[in-house]
Amino acid sequence: MAKTFYIETFGCQMNVHDSEKVAGKLLSSGYRQVETADEADLVLYNTCSIREKAAQKVFTRLNEYKRARGAGKLFGVIGCVAQQEGEKIFEAAPHVSLVAGSASYSRFSDLLVQLESGNRRVTGLSLDTDATFETDFTHRDNPFRAYITIIEGCDKHCAYCVVPFTRGRERSRTSQNVLEEARKLADAGYSEIQLLGQNVNSYRDPSPAAVSFANLLGKVAEIPGIRRVRFTTSHPRDFTRDIVHAIESHPALCNQVHLPVQSGSTEVLRRMRRDYTREEYLERIRWMRESKRPISISTDIIVGFPGETEHDFEQTMDLLFEVGYHSIFSFQYSPRPNTESLAFEDTIPKEEKGRRLRILQERQRSMQIERNQRLVGTEQEVLIEGRNNREEDGRRQWKGRTVQNMVLNFTVPDELACGVAAGQYMHVRVTSAGPNSLVGVATRGDEACVSWPPSMMRPAPENVFHVLS
Ligand code: SAH
Ligand code: SF4
Ligand code: F3S
Repeated sequence: MAKTFYIETFGCQMNVHDSEKVAGKLLSSGYRQVETADEADLVLYNTCSIREKAAQKVFTRLNEYKRARGAGKLFGVIGCVAQQEGEKIFEAAPHVSLVAGSASYSRFSDLLVQLESGNRRVTGLSLDTDATFETDFTHRDNPFRAYITIIEGCDKHCAYCVVPFTRGRERSRTSQNVLEEARKLADAGYSEIQLLGQNVNSYRDPSPAAVSFANLLGKVAEIPGIRRVRFTTSHPRDFTRDIVHAIESHPALCNQVHLPVQSGSTEVLRRMRRDYTREEYLERIRWMRESKRPISISTDIIVGFPGETEHDFEQTMDLLFEVGYHSIFSFQYSPRPNTESLAFEDTIPKEEKGRRLRILQERQRSMQIERNQRLVGTEQEVLIEGRNNREEDGRRQWKGRTVQNMVLNFTVPDELACGVAAGQYMHVRVTSAGPNSLVGVATRGDEACVSWPPSMMRPAPENVFHVLS
């Protein structure tokens, strides 16, 4: 009987995609994927270390299995906590046999061989690699939206952040290689591509073609069959005007940009080592506002960074008004191992961080309600993601995503219902709006209706994801 594995993923989209690649390697090595850890011979946790709470999740999971239930199973901790904690994980959780960070996945088959031959302390922890992790065996969980990592690692060293320590130096894939994968995906029926990198726009083509990031976006958007291209996360320092021009010139390039600001105060940004001022950030926002296509902008914000005064925080609050974000991901500052700001006195009490976060989120929420209300009556193209459990007017809803990445839950009148399925595009009239999603009714199907080969609608078990942002 085939050996079985279970993989659970915490963290960002890059981790989600890494899990797809690791799953692909396991499947090609004769493993079968199962839906629960209880059924699995090999249990893998792909971990995130960005904040303390995220990092602790894996230890909670491992503790659940310490007692009896884990007997006869192999456990592996991979991803950012693995890279950060290294062999200490074997001491903290002696039932773990594999500890490997993302820079070692390109030799995952090798690690697997060691595990199978009885080594109970297999490690893949070297960050000293030029390899970008690519695989022909990627087992994608979604049959119509595909991730492509174009740049690994981070060279920025923001004062609060673990990523440079958990993912190593920046390494970009060649543009030829990225385009080849995108073309293959288009041929296989994928219509949406998401280009990934911790700082996706720091991409530097290592090939002689030296294709710029903006040109790469354009080239992916021009591939026949690709209808939507997104990219995340953009760093403000490397956000150039030609990215906005690319969005203007390529309808398949979604008019949506995630541009984390972290703080509205230049003084806090300086201590965070973000490498831009409030004014420079706002200049990039202006480029987008001046664009011929309306671009939706989202961001990440940290409140309570050491030394953040009430005045600094007010500047972040003001920034919400100035920019008018479509959505934000906001967090309380969490001191992390190895980082520069670990040595800064964590001056702001937990309750105060909580208060700042609450009022920030409340302001954003009311702005989102207002903004989304303005979409009522408009027609939006959605890519259908699947069915919802909720009903509206006695019909079960579908869930779709607009070009600007908003969730739009909608019903389909009987005359349009034939053949509606996940992965297809429809036009939907927005009838009401909440802070985080829209509700609507389909008005027409899609002329260039995509039809999926039955093999792509596989009922295989899905990876379990806890996606952050
Ligand atoms: N590379 C991206 C962000 C990656 S991490 C960028 O530079 O913008 C995702 C988000 O987690 C960050 O944008 C930041 O808002 C948050 N984050 C990172 N480290 C954190 C910490 N120590 N405490 C709280 N939030 C943190
Ligand atoms: Fe972390 Fe800064 Fe790199 Fe983003 S740019 S991953 S916040 S070090
Ligand atoms: Fe978390 Fe690592 Fe991503 S720390 S956010 S999984 S790069």
